[in-house]
Amino acid sequence: MKLATKFLGISLKNPLVLASGVLGTTGSSLAAVAKSGAGAVTSKSVWLKRHDGHKNPTVLNLGNGNLINAVGLPHGGIEEARVEFANFRKLSNTPLLASIAASNLKEFVETAKAVATLKPDLIELNISCPNVESEFGRPFACSVSDSAKVTKAVKKSIGEIPLAVKLSPNVENIAAIAKSVEAAGADAIVAINTVGPGMVIDIETAQPILANKVGGLSGPAIRPIAVKAIFEIFRAVKIPIIGVGGVANGRDAIELLEAGATLVSVGSAAKNGLQIFGKIIRELEEFCQRKKIKNISQLIGLAHKK
Ligand code: DHB
Repeated sequence: MKLATKFLGISLKNPLVLASGVLGTTGSSLAAVAKSGAGAVTSKSVWLKRHDGHKNPTVLNLGNGNLINAVGLPHGGIEEARVEFANFRKLSNTPLLASIAASNLKEFVETAKAVATLKPDLIELNISCPNVESEFGRPFACSVSDSAKVTKAVKKSIGEIPLAVKLSPNVENIAAIAKSVEAAGADAIVAINTVGPGMVIDIETAQPILANKVGGLSGPAIRPIAVKAIFEIFRAVKIPIIGVGGVANGRDAIELLEAGATLVSVGSAAKNGLQIFGKIIRELEEFCQRKKIKNISQLIGLAHKK
């Protein structure tokens, strides 16, 4: 039974990926995740220049593995990424996906060019963070034309490195956005980013708890939203999908594969310990053995055959 897979020419020992945002800032934390079994890892979104995130509190636990966060995309800038990616490469051969963030189109292109020189296996365009709206306005991923424009400009500037575009679920028609980025040259879609934004109020003080007041929702509660988005995107485009949203065990990962994902990322659940990757892999193997599935890729999009 085969878990190994290929994604845009990248060889992965299994289809599990560390999602951006969790344990992705340093080379050593990325390498620890790779060692724990992930088939690929994604960095925290890289900025060209140092970008300070929001003040504390930035993350709240909502129970049952669900989180609300407004970290605010903190990052040390391209030189920090250069050092940390090199550290990662010394420690691990696992494919490295580089997430990038920026405040406008020109800066996205400059950041992508700079990150391309670090030779990641793929660049993930984070145009869907819901937490920097007060700084930069609505995310590009909320507009068909903005998504396409930034995809086209970045694709032109990164040579042979594959480009994946991370979409927001907080839109009327995610399939239409996926189609527009595909037409603009995206090689893959990442779906979904966090849901909302939402708000939690401390009732004693009547204060919104997050310093940013609002934040993105993640964890098992958003998985049905991810599954529906992946299902719709799979129907709309030919390029492959990295599914992400609330995956905490093998059955969840299988659900995203059956909806149409080729790879499945784990974000919030990785905060509870790195044993999650080994556990999901064992559960994928058990499922495939029980169902007499020889190759994990047989699961991709299965729900569309019903
Ligand atoms: C952050 C970024 C995201 O893309 C997201 O979905 C949630 C939080 C952040 O760093 O604040």
